[in-house]
Amino acid sequence: MDQRPIGMFDSGCGGLTVLKEFIKELPHEDFIYYGDTAHLPYGDKSKEKIVEYSEEIVKFLLQKDVKMIVIACGTASAMAYDYLKEKYSGVPIINIIEPTAKEVREKEIGVIATKGTIKSKAWEKAILKYHPETHITSVACPLLVPLIEEGFSNHSATNLVLQEYLRSFKDISSLILGCTHYPILKEQIQTILGNSINIINAGTYAAQETLKTLNSLHIENSIHHQGTLSFYSSDDFESFKENAKILDFYI
Ligand code: DGL
Repeated sequence: MDQRPIGMFDSGCGGLTVLKEFIKELPHEDFIYYGDTAHLPYGDKSKEKIVEYSEEIVKFLLQKDVKMIVIACGTASAMAYDYLKEKYSGVPIINIIEPTAKEVREKEIGVIATKGTIKSKAWEKAILKYHPETHITSVACPLLVPLIEEGFSNHSATNLVLQEYLRSFKDISSLILGCTHYPILKEQIQTILGNSINIINAGTYAAQETLKTLNSLHIENSIHHQGTLSFYSSDDFESFKENAKILDFYI
């Protein structure tokens, strides 16, 4: 048993969709969530910058004595995970890509994410490592994060933009939401693609993988403990709290 918290970070509020999945799967764990709002968005920045920002956050979380770190950002998962995992090998680090890539079973898969994530080909590499026979179609959707952040999740403009982006997916059976903002658009995406398509929230698999890791290392919290949440942001905390509401998260 280990009562220390789990550290989690994102470029801002998007990772709160991941945190929601973790709260469901790991109700006895304490979480420290860090939103790097001063450097948002990560989606169009260089790998060098994403690694630099992510490493600063990891150092901050380690100072808070976390027992594990979750990269709850699609772009940081794609660009900084390998570096962080190697350099900070003393602490288990989970990203949102590996656990999902391991579990997907379908032959025709679509991925939507930020420009940076799609350019890195991190999803293709991870999926093909576990399932070499899979065919993957990837589409960058750079307009979605600004629309969501403007509170346009249910707006017809977002629906039009989604229809345009999703046009490329013809024969897929699953679509991975490779950016942590996108689960807020899950219903609209499902309506456009139809109910036969399995829409995958990568946070769900990351939470399951974390549970397995905690158990295998015997560092889970007591089942008698009710998990707590703490939040930090690198820029104005009040704006962070306001933005969190857009993602249906009330701090
Ligand atoms: N949360 C980020 C991700 O999952 C998207 C927002 C950003 O570009 O920083 O990639």
